[in-house]
Formats: sequence, structure tokens, C-alpha cells
Amino acid sequence: MAQPVPVLVTGGAGYIGSHAVLALLDAGWPVAVIDNLTTGFRFAVPDGVPFYEGDVADADLLARIFAEQGTRAVMHFAGSIVVPESVSDPLKYYLNNTVKSRALIEAAVAAGVPHFIFSSTAATYGIPSVPAVTEETPTVPINPYGWSKLMTERMLADTAFAHPLNYCALRYFNVAGADPQGRSGQSTAGATHLIKIAVEAALGKRDSVQVFGTDYATPDGTGVRDYIHVSDLASAHVLALEALIDRADRSLTMNCGYGRGFSVFEVLDAVDRVTNLKLTRVVSPRRPGDADSLVSDPARLKATLPWVPRHADLDGIVADALQWERKLAELRG
Ligand code: UFG
Repeated sequence: MAQPVPVLVTGGAGYIGSHAVLALLDAGWPVAVIDNLTTGFRFAVPDGVPFYEGDVADADLLARIFAEQGTRAVMHFAGSIVVPESVSDPLKYYLNNTVKSRALIEAAVAAGVPHFIFSSTAATYGIPSVPAVTEETPTVPINPYGWSKLMTERMLADTAFAHPLNYCALRYFNVAGADPQGRSGQSTAGATHLIKIAVEAALGKRDSVQVFGTDYATPDGTGVRDYIHVSDLASAHVLALEALIDRADRSLTMNCGYGRGFSVFEVLDAVDRVTNLKLTRVVSPRRPGDADSLVSDPARLKATLPWVPRHADLDGIVADALQWERKLAELRG
């Protein structure tokens, strides 16, 4: 098995990046973080982890970090993630997710960093016509967010062909929950994600939860998604890095999900169960660009990595999200 090497986590003060930092530390890897704190939080980076406040497109800073830390792998989470915003401000997404990724990849190649893990998305598939999405399902994004990530995947593939670097693109389905030990969670204000919104409502931060559409082609008419616990996702990153180190001649693209879908109503039922409340549901029009159902086929992930999901239970995902939301309320006073 691969020995730990120094890892630079970009966006390590953000939601998924901070959980990757925890997973790496828990597994004994030396970690440093770069984050410009636009959407991340300094408190999300554990004490003792070298922290660089700055931009992933800052070539001088990157060269300094790689030299100081002896970096052998990059995990790249920094970027913009709000799909509707990518429609209204596409150039922001092509800058933050594509152009800046290009600069980071270039810096990694220049410093001879041999391994690169990229935070990609199921949004690269657009609205797939299959019940379970494999990596062979055509990638036809329906918004600039998906395109901005897919372009970076393409850059990595071409770079890996030309230079001594291998990469893994992980295409996330719906990431939710929080560190079960309460060390991190989703902290961004103005959340749009269903489970985050529902736990905010459970704590009285919202009066109700809107249900965006009840006329989808799904069993109960509401949108179906494959919710994956952020800690299971983080552990997949550590295993993916081991796989890259073990087989330097191979790059990987893999879906990250559990391969099962829950409807909006099923998620809200879980929140009601966990909180012992009955959240007010307000049936609202469809949100533009939402697919009926988006569920992964995680066969490649399971066949390639020794990945064992430990937090797949939906009620557990909700309970962890709720625990973090309570802690966040305390942190913010
Ligand atoms: N939903 C509601 N009410 C809400 C919020 C969401 O009914 O207040 C519904 C949506 O319509 C959808 C489901 O809950 O059916 C999940 O919506 P989210 O906003 O939580 O997540 P999305 O599936 O829209 O998007 C997520 C990520 C994207 C990523 C995409 C890829 O946020 O970054 O998954 O699948 F691109």
C-alpha cells in the first residue's frame, strides 16, 4: 500500500475540502492547505496544518508552497459551486473553475508534483436519460458550472498524456452531512442544498422548506438524488490518492455516490424523523434546470478502490448535518 506523501489541499477551508483534510490527517498524511477564504473559513482548518491564504492561480505562491512542503500530490477543491450563479455569471465560473485550475496544473507540472485529484461533479452529465449514471454516460452539461468542471477534466487528461503526472477526477453526486465527530460541516451562508436548508428550518432559521416541483417522472413526483455523506466522499479521495501512487501509469475518472436515490419528500421525511418535528413543506414551481432523477452507478469506484461506505444511512446523514448546524449556531453566537 502507498506510503503517505505531503498533500496540498486547495479549498481546504471549504466544506468538502475541510473533510478531505480531516480524512488525510486521520490516515496519517502530511497536509497543507491553500484557500483564499472567499467562501471558506479559517476555523475549518485544524490547528497545526500549514495554512496559506491565497489564490491557486498565484504561480509564485504555489512554487513556494510546493518547495516548502515537498508536495507530492494536489487535491483540488477550490472553486465556485452554485449552479444558478454559473448561468447568470458564466465567466466567473470559467475563471475560478477552469482558468485558475489551468494555472494550478501548470504550477504542479513545473514543480514535478506527480499526482492530482480533482473535485468534479455529476453536473458534467447534464440530464442523463439512464436510471443509473456510469462514467460512460455521455457528458453533456446543461450549465456553465458543469462545463467549467468538464473542461478541467479535459485539461488534466491532456496534461497527464504529455507530462509525468497522473490524476483522478471524482464526479460527486449530492454531497451532504458533516463530520460525525463534529469537527467540520457545511458553513456557507445562503445555502441552496436541500438537506442543509431542511436542517436550518428544523432549527428555526427558516419558516418552511420549499419543494421544487411535484410533477417529475419519479414515484412521488419530486426530484430524486443520490446523497453521499461528505466523510465517505472524503475517504474516497484518500483511497484514490493511494491508487494514483500505486499505479503512476494510470489516471482515473469515477462517480462518487451510493447508487441509490431518495426523493425530496423522502429526505424531508428523514428530517422529520430525526428531529421529531413536522417541517412545513411549501410546494413550489420547478427550479429551472433540475433533472427528474440523478443517481450514480458507483461500480467503478467500488471495483477500483477498497472503498467501504460507512455513513450511507440517510437518517445518519441528516443527523450529522443537524449536529453541525447546532454547532455552527454556537460558533456564530
Ligand atoms: N430542492 C427542493 N427544495 C430546496 C432545495 C432543493 O425541493 O429548497 C430539491 C431540488 O429541486 C432537487 C433536490 O432537492 O430535486 C436536490 O437539490 P440540491 O439543490 O440539494 O442539489 P442539486 O441536485 O440541484 O445539485 C447538486 C449540487 C451541484 C451539483 C449537482 C450534481 O449542488 O453542485 O448536485 O448532481 F452540480
